[in-house]
Amino acid sequence: SHPSVLSLSPSSLSVDAVGLQRQIDELAAFSDTPKPSVTRILYSEKDVLARSYIKSLMKEAALSVREDAVGNIFGRWNGYEAGLPAVATGSHIDAIPFSGKYDGVVGVLGALEAINTLKRSNFQPRRSLEVIMFTSEEPTRFGISCLGSRLLAGSEAATDALKQAVDGQNISFFDAAKSAGYNICQEDLPNVSLTKESYSAFLELHIEQGPILEEEGVSIGIVTAIAAPASIKVDFEGNGGHAGAVLMPARNDAGLAAAELALAVEKHVLASGSIDTVGTVGILELHPGAINSIPSRSHLEIDTRDIDEKRRNTVIEKIQHSASKIATDRGVKLSQFTVVNQDPPALCDESIIDAMEAASRQLNLSHKLMISRAYHDSLFMARISPMGMIFIPCYKGYSHKPEEYASMEDIANGVKVLALTLAKLSLD
Ligand code: GLV
Ligand code: MN
Ligand code: MN
Ligand code: MN
Repeated sequence: SHPSVLSLSPSSLSVDAVGLQRQIDELAAFSDTPKPSVTRILYSEKDVLARSYIKSLMKEAALSVREDAVGNIFGRWNGYEAGLPAVATGSHIDAIPFSGKYDGVVGVLGALEAINTLKRSNFQPRRSLEVIMFTSEEPTRFGISCLGSRLLAGSEAATDALKQAVDGQNISFFDAAKSAGYNICQEDLPNVSLTKESYSAFLELHIEQGPILEEEGVSIGIVTAIAAPASIKVDFEGNGGHAGAVLMPARNDAGLAAAELALAVEKHVLASGSIDTVGTVGILELHPGAINSIPSRSHLEIDTRDIDEKRRNTVIEKIQHSASKIATDRGVKLSQFTVVNQDPPALCDESIIDAMEAASRQLNLSHKLMISRAYHDSLFMARISPMGMIFIPCYKGYSHKPEEYASMEDIANGVKVLALTLAKLSLD
């Protein structure tokens, strides 16, 4: 007979918090910038090292490891009814420039620790349990966020975008992949996609990246929905020229057009009427970038999000209108206005929410329902599987900066909720 989840008493779940913290620290050492910051960019040397570290941990946990064409990594613990759709959990380990060591990582190493915890308690899964490390959740290198999970969900837009994609050094996606040991061509991309029969549930454990849980002293956030993200690339072109010799009336300054558009983004976001609308110009580049040369080209990348898709789309329309008007008024050319992605929000699955709440209750952990303002691979996994997310508190809500921190106690709590929920869902 197979031990049921009932015999898995929550108190028998013992998380190896010390070991998990050591792994988080070891992974953080694969970074292109010094401690405490972490920088780990897709297909870089450090990313390749971090990937083999994850694969070795999967093998240590006796999972069967599979890697797809773009480097999504899967570690499976076969259930006693291995033919059923599996229950999956995972996140990412890539890190934007000068970020911290918990974003994504907690959901990969924490997932492996959840599996090890279940194994130590002699639990036997009915459905297979699978840990996924997604390729490039962050858009850093090729401007495409959640690259691995978009492809898993069968996004044709992502497949098309990758055909043209180049990084800041003009290296193509395929050349970058090749340098990391992934010898792929365009025809391989659609094969990454998974069917809707692959998973009966997908879960992601993540730091909140916001201040609510810490402020309210709540241990576990149970996500109900993920906000709708969009990103836009804009280029302006002017004549440039000598900073001393070209008089002001004769100029068409591409840099000032960019500055004006950045302020317009803020204005349109604030005018939405909701605190839930946000917009950021995180990249603003001027060419040639010399103090005594009028910018002849400018490049902006704009991130805008909302829990209300329609309201977010209205902001995008207004930004586009402003970009055209600024170009006309300033006599510069709007040489690019590309909406890179304009994704709808995702709802978490009711029965998974119930399972996570039940697990938190069984573990005597305070919990609350909340939305995710950051996006996650779960946004795309929701297209092929019922999805749920578990948040844990993080220091002052800090994320995407070196000061990002989550306590070992909070991480261990998250791992326990994850383990118990995986166990329940695997027996469903
Ligand atoms: C992902 O890191 C995001 O920007 O939400
Ligand atoms: Mn992130
Ligand atoms: Mn993340
Ligand atoms: Mn994220």
